[in-house]
Amino acid sequence: MKREQARLARQAATDAQKPLPNDHPGRQAASGSEQEDFYYRELEEESNDVCGCNEPEPAKSFWAKGWHPRVDNSALGFEENSKEGLNGLQDVVSYTAVSFAAYRAIESERPDALFQDPLAAYLAGDRVVSRQKAEVANKDYPGARFAVRTKYFDLAMMSAIEEMKAQNSQAKVQVVLFGCGMDARSWRLPATLETVPPADKVFEGDRPDVMGLKEQLLSIREEAGGLPPLTLAKQRVVLAVDFNTDTWKELILQKGFRKSEPTVWLFEGLIMYLTPAGVTSLVETVAEFSAPGSVLLIDGISASAVDRAKSSPSPVLRSWTWGSNDPETFFNAHGWRVTTVDDVTGGMFGRVLPSWPGRERNLTWYMTAKRE
Ligand SMILES: C[S@@+](CC[C@H](N)C(=O)[O-])C[C@H]1O[C@@H](n2cnc3c(N)ncnc32)[C@H](O)[C@@H]1O
Repeated sequence: MKREQARLARQAATDAQKPLPNDHPGRQAASGSEQEDFYYRELEEESNDVCGCNEPEPAKSFWAKGWHPRVDNSALGFEENSKEGLNGLQDVVSYTAVSFAAYRAIESERPDALFQDPLAAYLAGDRVVSRQKAEVANKDYPGARFAVRTKYFDLAMMSAIEEMKAQNSQAKVQVVLFGCGMDARSWRLPATLETVPPADKVFEGDRPDVMGLKEQLLSIREEAGGLPPLTLAKQRVVLAVDFNTDTWKELILQKGFRKSEPTVWLFEGLIMYLTPAGVTSLVETVAEFSAPGSVLLIDGISASAVDRAKSSPSPVLRSWTWGSNDPETFFNAHGWRVTTVDDVTGGMFGRVLPSWPGRERNLTWYMTAKRE
């Protein structure tokens, strides 16, 4: 049965790489630059409200006060509306870790949920989840897109692990989640493999402020006896690293990473926040650290979207620093063999996102690359 589930998951991942049929509702849309304009406008709108702070006042005035978005984790005892409400997170880039967890919490509550995240609601905090819930009725609710992205990478990751295990059942597969934010994959996956947990170690890496908050919340939860067992790997290892400025080669080796074992690397929603030098260094180091057969799963945005974001009123979009219109060439030149570059749409998972048809085309890309 579990083998069958694994096969179905793999099939779903394969299906996910197929384009939508021409008559699919998700295709009925504007085309070319009109799509890009539309997409960009929408991203600006959603990002202006990334902290849910256009109620009761617009995001811009919120920021003008020098406040940061509130990360409302009452477990930590911070008061709403206070600077401490930042919980130590340094800026809106780090805050995306929290708002994306809220999207997963909201997705988990749907009757047709694409996944069940056991920790998302806790890691996001009640008030952030409530605020973002208020957006769900909006047909342009951004979380719908990110739930699909998460599902896509869930399937791609399990498929990659299964392939590694099929090639060598003794392989001590490693998973590395960089830019993991408040992602709880380590407790959420797998749903398909016979070997549970299927990986030997999962390494989670993000900025020090984000990992600090995450570990603090997790330890509170653990002390209260509410932390579920790890499901993705036997052991979870944390790296507090800024990929723009810190070297992490020694650190990851000290923490038990083995260059000789195959690795699935997942960078979900990370690379657009890195500088060009940070991206090159990360991609090359990851190639250097990857045994043959290792897989890199990554999403990114186009260079043109990054250029246009420079004049955006949104602090999130202005913080984008890297994009590529030709990721395949870039990654192939830095030690990888790109196997797929996809558009990912709601229609792949039975979700129609009516106002976004075609929006990802030429704007966001989802890539799988292998190390040979
Ligand atoms: C949009 S969130 C995605 C988080 C997570 N992957 C998810 O899907 O929920 C972007 C993440 O990238 C992290 N990030 C951005 N710049 C970074 C850097 N220079 N070094 C390490 N992490 C970074 C942020 O802290 C944040 O957690």
